[in-house]
Amino acid sequence: MTNIRIVQSAHVAPERVVPNDELTNYMDTSDEWIKSRTGISQRHVSTGQKTSDLCTIVAQQLLDKVGWQPKDLDFIIVATMSPDYLTPATAAIVQGRIGAKSAYAFDINAACSGFIYGLKIAEGLLQTPHARGMLIGGEVLSKLVDWHERSTAVLFGDGAGGVLLANSPEQGSQFIASDLETLGELGDSLTAGYQPVNSVFNTDATDSHQQYFEMDGRAVYRFATHSVPESIERALNKAGLLVNDVDYFILHQANQRIIDQIAKRLDQPINKFLSNVAEYGNTSAASVAMLLDQELASGTIKRGQTIVLSGFGGGLTVGTQIIRY
Ligand code: ACO
Repeated sequence: MTNIRIVQSAHVAPERVVPNDELTNYMDTSDEWIKSRTGISQRHVSTGQKTSDLCTIVAQQLLDKVGWQPKDLDFIIVATMSPDYLTPATAAIVQGRIGAKSAYAFDINAACSGFIYGLKIAEGLLQTPHARGMLIGGEVLSKLVDWHERSTAVLFGDGAGGVLLANSPEQGSQFIASDLETLGELGDSLTAGYQPVNSVFNTDATDSHQQYFEMDGRAVYRFATHSVPESIERALNKAGLLVNDVDYFILHQANQRIIDQIAKRLDQPINKFLSNVAEYGNTSAASVAMLLDQELASGTIKRGQTIVLSGFGGGLTVGTQIIRY
């Protein structure tokens, strides 16, 4: 057990809502197909807000909620696969905007597992007593989507969610145990944001990769439904807990069918698996933090409860963090 804790959470999504029916203007699909295959009814989409804009709103909300000053932060991490730039890091943009002068800031990319990987990195950075940091998962995936490609466009949405973290004996969600795994050999089954070698020296005319999402949906489905329960079991094992000891599971919100299947594999009732995929779609690194914040704010999660957070996606990556609220 450590004194590393989540002490506050916040989230934001762009105001513009795109219901499934509206997508039929751009591609051959239907509300019925999308709902029955994914559980998604709508997504929130940026009308120009950048990833740094959404993350800055979350950062400011976090500080306001808990009453910390920007200078109290030792670090800011943004987990994202859709940064504004390759440099500066989105976290550095946020740091500059909120004036967190004592904080070092950097981005990480583990796609939809980014928030969970970020918690692990933060744990390492928080070993000094009273250290404080901020972790935000933020995405504008709508810029990586080909809005005429129905096999991917219906799945994704934009948003950001984050947490304040501290090494503190006070109340908050305590880190219990974690597990991270990467299957790089399967990486080609989900790609986005390809950066071509477009220099004057490039002699390779055969490069056909593209910047938009390309996905072998069935391969990702198979990976998620097998690797996530295995990761959860490993993390529970490290914590000396059984799956029945878990009060709620907050999984990456990619697809309700994936969540249902994972619940079956773990032999757990579906009402332990919290979900907001119907409203937001898949927001990659933002999804776990957004849902965690919603459920803390609504009072669903109560003091003393054991919560499993799990992310999975591009890389391919999977990660689990167990916390006690
Ligand atoms: N609307 C209507 N028809 C569609 C659509 C659509 N949006 N998309 C595909 N179809 C059609 C296909 O063309 C195909 O038609 P055909 O049989 O005539 O060829 C048929 O529907 C079935 O297509 P499949 O791809 O086999 O559909 P499947 O049942 O596997 O569902 C899905 C596809 C939802 C993508 C599923 O494979 C899945 O959820 N995979 C996991 C994907 C995922 O979650 N990725 C993100 C995780 S990682 C991250 O978060 C970045």
